[in-house]
Amino acid sequence: MNIEKLAKTARSLVANHRGILASDESTGTIKNRFDGIGVVSTADSRRDYRELLFRTKGVVKFVSGAILYDETIRQKAANGMSLVRVMKAKNIQPGIKVDAGAKPLAGAPGETVTEGLDGLNERVAEYAKLGATFAKWRAVIDIGRNIPSPYAIHTNAHALARYARICQEGGLVPIVEPEVLMDGGHDIVRCQEVTEQVLAAVFNELNLQGVPLEGILLKPNMVISGKKCAKQASAKEIAERTLECFRRTVPAAVPGIVFLSGGQSMQDATANLNAMNAMGPSPWKLSFSYGRALQEGPLKAWKGITKNVPAAQSSLLKRARLNSAACKGSYRPAMEKAAAKK
Ligand code: 13P
Repeated sequence: MNIEKLAKTARSLVANHRGILASDESTGTIKNRFDGIGVVSTADSRRDYRELLFRTKGVVKFVSGAILYDETIRQKAANGMSLVRVMKAKNIQPGIKVDAGAKPLAGAPGETVTEGLDGLNERVAEYAKLGATFAKWRAVIDIGRNIPSPYAIHTNAHALARYARICQEGGLVPIVEPEVLMDGGHDIVRCQEVTEQVLAAVFNELNLQGVPLEGILLKPNMVISGKKCAKQASAKEIAERTLECFRRTVPAAVPGIVFLSGGQSMQDATANLNAMNAMGPSPWKLSFSYGRALQEGPLKAWKGITKNVPAAQSSLLKRARLNSAACKGSYRPAMEKAAAKK
């Protein structure tokens, strides 16, 4: 494996206060998003929507790459050019989701393991040929009564490390995503405890399987109160606990940590990232790989109507700009209004 090349790609994805647009919703998930704005989900409507995101003028200043779903990496833009070429022409790196989703884990009621290792070698080779430079695999850990079990944590960590090693050997930078869900009534202390256990297990497996950490990006949840918890922690506490958790578990060789938004509002996702960068410096770049927290605005503005494309693009540009400011620790809530006027 060419570790120097992988490390260079990984660093480039988090350079210059830029982050990643997660636009790799599966066909089922994007249908749910489209249902929310009254748009019928077809191959063409999905293409039109994603094309408008990638063609957003100026977004490359804030977004280094976008994660695609299998359908999208093979799709052509309305003018017949491949979407990958559209992205490359704008210097946005194409990434690819390679997992097959979280499936019930035998022997662990209520828990899941992410599948997709079978044939992954061949798929990675094909995606690299299609132009992908990086990949993503999401493991899901739920917090509840008596869960997560050590078995579910171990099984998911093992699969994440196998995926990472296969990607690196195929020339793709693996984004390693162990997501501890924010659903549920647990408090932030419990979230920190579980996130530390999960990250410790993931880095243990990455080491056992010989994955050079310079050639990965970590995509974790923030340490945050469960959605249904009566006591919601402040941005300051979220930032302090998240950084403490990472210092205990994430080696400094990892070039970048790109957060998922996980159901936080757009503003919270930006403010929490900002709070962490304002407390810096940290050993790793702290950036974003948001799905919902970047797309909520553009989806609502678009509604499947061509004449709304400029409004949807300016909504994406605004959110990307504010998240890039959060990578520097220079975001202020007042910028929400100022950016809207631009
Ligand atoms: P959210 O930011 O919406 O959590 O999505 C990020 C992602 O890619 C989840 O796998």
